[in-house]
Amino acid sequence: CGIVGYIGHRDAYPIIIKGLQRLEYRGYDSAGIALYDGTDINLSKTKGKVDDLKNKSESSISLKGSLGIGHTRWATHGIPNDINSHPHYSNSGDLVIIHNGIIENYEAIKKELTTRGYTFESDTDTEVLVNLIEEVKNKEEVKLGKAVQIALNQVIGAYAIAVFDKQKPDEIVVAKLGSPLAIGIGKDEFFVASDASPFIEFTNNAVYLEDEEMAIIRLGKEIKLRKIKDDSIAYPLVQELQMNLEEIEKGGYDHFMLKEIYEQPRAIKDTYRGRLRAAQGIIKMAGVDENLEKFLNANRIIIVACGTSWHAGLVAEYIFEDLARIPVEVEYASEFRYRNPVITDKDVLIAISQSGETADTLAAIKLAKERGAFVFGVCNVVGSSIARETHAGAYTHAGPEIGVASTKAFTTQITVLTLLALKLAKEKGEFSESKFHEFLSELENIPSKVQTTLASNPLVEVIAQAYKDSDNCLYLGRGYNFPVALEGALKLKEISYIHAEGYPAAEMKHGPIALIDDQMPVIVIAPKKGHYEKVVSNIQEIKSRKGKIIAIVTAGDRQVTDLADHVIEVPETIESLSPLLTTIPLQLLSYHIAVMRGCNVDQPRNLAKSVTVE
Ligand code: G6P
Repeated sequence: CGIVGYIGHRDAYPIIIKGLQRLEYRGYDSAGIALYDGTDINLSKTKGKVDDLKNKSESSISLKGSLGIGHTRWATHGIPNDINSHPHYSNSGDLVIIHNGIIENYEAIKKELTTRGYTFESDTDTEVLVNLIEEVKNKEEVKLGKAVQIALNQVIGAYAIAVFDKQKPDEIVVAKLGSPLAIGIGKDEFFVASDASPFIEFTNNAVYLEDEEMAIIRLGKEIKLRKIKDDSIAYPLVQELQMNLEEIEKGGYDHFMLKEIYEQPRAIKDTYRGRLRAAQGIIKMAGVDENLEKFLNANRIIIVACGTSWHAGLVAEYIFEDLARIPVEVEYASEFRYRNPVITDKDVLIAISQSGETADTLAAIKLAKERGAFVFGVCNVVGSSIARETHAGAYTHAGPEIGVASTKAFTTQITVLTLLALKLAKEKGEFSESKFHEFLSELENIPSKVQTTLASNPLVEVIAQAYKDSDNCLYLGRGYNFPVALEGALKLKEISYIHAEGYPAAEMKHGPIALIDDQMPVIVIAPKKGHYEKVVSNIQEIKSRKGKIIAIVTAGDRQVTDLADHVIEVPETIESLSPLLTTIPLQLLSYHIAVMRGCNVDQPRNLAKSVTVE
């Protein structure tokens, strides 16, 4: 979910609506807003997108006021409908709250409050929380801030909340545990949001709350930070933001996803900029340089991640083992954290996360730290929870990724992990000087090769037209390009809702081959290097069952080109770097198919960009 709040001298409504639109990547099944007009709270909420909220609010409530909060939701408790949407009132109607996260013990609290006469309109844990705050406030006769603190000490779960009291409309109280919360500090005004994008045009100064911190944001005063547990004072660290507005707007593209696909040459360059010095044969990565011994002495590397980031982890497994000769295990964070894994202080755990907020990945990190492992993060969002929780790390520097289906985050994650593997390979003496140089200079060629690959876009669009009505698709690849097949299938599923599976090409004959008929498109990733001949025989097996073949091949390819129904060429490169190129046409294919099917590309149904619940 995404939350936004404003208190100051401007109209709160446009700021909150625009802010919510920027946060829609965090969830978009319902939205709501509460504004204080000087006497009363006006609240509007609805199932659907922020645009639906806008239409509803503009025709039904007064939009006056310089104090307000808003929410865009990804449902956890209760189906997405108007009533379950946030904000939620307390029973008296004085308090109003927005919440991102889950209160796990809400049922017990709800029971208790019910016996005290409280009633509930919605099925949400959030409505329980706001009433608990009200109950504490009345019973203990304390101010809102204190009531929030006492109440939060009684709940188990995760939250980022913002709450205000109609009887005291000069303050907003916010608190954080597990879900992110940033406070923008302007001149005589404050902003609250899940990330800094809603207030970037108003101020460059922000405070990111730490877990278990709360803040009382009062007009005309400095913000006050406190630890929720023991009420001790915390001191706000005001950070200067580096994000700019252009980065979070579409810049002429129809969709963020397409913009982000096209940004990849630049994004990859930004990832290695300042780190890679091909001419001198140097890779500099501060987080690695300072902890080199940890990596070199590691018994193994464990990679944890979810979704697309997990696929980047799988590519990294091939790279680390092949180049640096370090054993690697790649785990879904959600499985890792619950299966009592064997971890020792000789292990290095690498957590990969675009958002840096994924709850399962964060929990896996905490577990590994408890057991003594050294934890290294690969995140895109600067200052995110995972970036802060890890011992060291490397940012991908891809810039904000707004499209829910991850694209540039994936290729930049692979770029960072490649740099790391190359550095370790060099340090371990696995590489000759000349081989190292060859890799470094080829890595520098990748952005322009990605650019060349993007030129296949019109051809990919034609292919998409032919297969847009398919019900199923199979993606096959071997070696380095097996994870690319998984990622290609995931992209298609996510945004076009076509069922797709990724498979190791050779494994096809142990099952998926039964699915192949003349209706079945099979996307085969078959670059010249890396088991080419074997993939050719797999293609023949598909061909003889009349499957339709779309092949990703190296420029100038003959053999596969003769067999396939369609080919998309990518420039030649070193095998280990080929996923950075072969992924691109698969992203474009999913994109065009989804657009042709009328799907919401940037905000596919049921998904969220940043999953802060387990
Ligand atoms: C969600 C997103 C995916 C993403 C995954 C992991 O499911 O929709 O695109 O790959 O979370 O997110 P992370 O931010 O940890 O990379």
